[in-house]
Amino acid sequence: MNKNEGLSAILQSVMRNSANTIKDKYYPHWHLAPVTGLLNDPNGFCFDGEYYHLFYQWNPLSCEHKHKCWGHWRSKDLITWQHQPIALLPNEFYDKDGCYSGSAVFYQGKLTLCYTGNVKFEDGSRTAWQCLAVENQQGGFDKLGPVLGLPEGYSGHVRDPKIWQYNDVWYMVLGAQNLDKQGKVLLYRASHLYQWQLVGELAGSYLGGLADAGYMWECPDLFELDERFILLICPQGIKREQQRFLNSHSSAYLIGDFDYSTLQFQHGDLIELDAGFEFYAPQTTFANGRRLLFGWMGVPDGEEMYQPTIANGWIHQMTCPRELHVKEGKLYQQPVKELQQLRQNPAYWQGIADDAPTINEFSIELELQLFGSLTIHFSDTLSLIIENEQALLKRRSAKNGEWQSRFWSGDIKHLQILCDSSSVEIFFNHGMGVMSSRFFPLEKQIITFSGKDVIKLTTWQLTDALPS
Ligand code: FRU
Repeated sequence: MNKNEGLSAILQSVMRNSANTIKDKYYPHWHLAPVTGLLNDPNGFCFDGEYYHLFYQWNPLSCEHKHKCWGHWRSKDLITWQHQPIALLPNEFYDKDGCYSGSAVFYQGKLTLCYTGNVKFEDGSRTAWQCLAVENQQGGFDKLGPVLGLPEGYSGHVRDPKIWQYNDVWYMVLGAQNLDKQGKVLLYRASHLYQWQLVGELAGSYLGGLADAGYMWECPDLFELDERFILLICPQGIKREQQRFLNSHSSAYLIGDFDYSTLQFQHGDLIELDAGFEFYAPQTTFANGRRLLFGWMGVPDGEEMYQPTIANGWIHQMTCPRELHVKEGKLYQQPVKELQQLRQNPAYWQGIADDAPTINEFSIELELQLFGSLTIHFSDTLSLIIENEQALLKRRSAKNGEWQSRFWSGDIKHLQILCDSSSVEIFFNHGMGVMSSRFFPLEKQIITFSGKDVIKLTTWQLTDALPS
């Protein structure tokens, strides 16, 4: 697309659809969502000392996975966000089929984006370029073009650069697929952002003690946290197990030790990052001493195209921002403390779950202490059943109405649940486990409780916080 034509088509699409989007009963009250069209991965998450920046994969023209641009929000507090000029449009020969995911760094004093230019050919094959763009005076970004082509021995599926600096050296991890259709993470290094040297495969299918772990690994993110190293990864084609890796594609992590002198990563087995129905392509940043994460509350290639919001011209939302920690060899995720600013009208209740009051709205936070089993019903569409050291999340499929299940195992004593118009994020035992899911109730928006055991329940209404 040519830049002027592209911008005018986007403007028209926003003018035509944004009113429908915002008045949709499923549109979030405080989660980030597209003003129109399709949103997927968080990109370029960073902090400039004053503002957090969050870019996102955005198709402003329709609810399909096409025409990927980078939208841009910024915020001083991770709660109130402002729309910024659209950062990237797929309008060059090297990114014509999408400005795909990537990251942002400060380079020579300027916010610099590193993203994948995706190029498809008529025979169905594709290539990918890793590209740079640098901020300009108008709040937009000037493209600097490709700095890295396809490495030898890999298919056209090489994408999603996450870059960082350590001791004056730049590093990049890239998601990749080799010619035997095995998913890998490639590690590169550089003394400046324009010339990258391949170090090798950092992790992947048939590496580091893993067996077949999928045909493509997307959206890698490697970072040090609490004296360990975490590699976040989205393996595609991983084998479904009875209670794990049940989504069409999974989001997982490897925990281990990375040595900057040998550039080797020793790690354990793949662990699912979020056990809910919708969570994918998370990205982190390090800001003010904290490792923060946003995820996409969606999953590609599953039932996404049956979501009812498409009728109103929009689809998908982000998760809430989360803070990460490592405890006893596991990654913990908790909502950032800033989200407590949304809390209003606290209410406290204690007793047998069967007697608990009905809650008549969804933009709400619940905190629960449990002393046994409990079921929470979110209208007629989603239920959380906790018993026998297991959480079972059941949801009616938007495709055919059948009940589907997701699982998290552990002795659950504490629950924190963040609800919005069509989403829940359920945190078990202060972040030991998480389930993120969208849901679209046909009936009234109510939350009810059942069970014979005692619960202690605190609720807060959450105030609206839409980007301006
Ligand atoms: C993950 C992903 C990335 C890609 C982007 C395209 O959801 O497939 O690998 O860069 O989405 O929108």
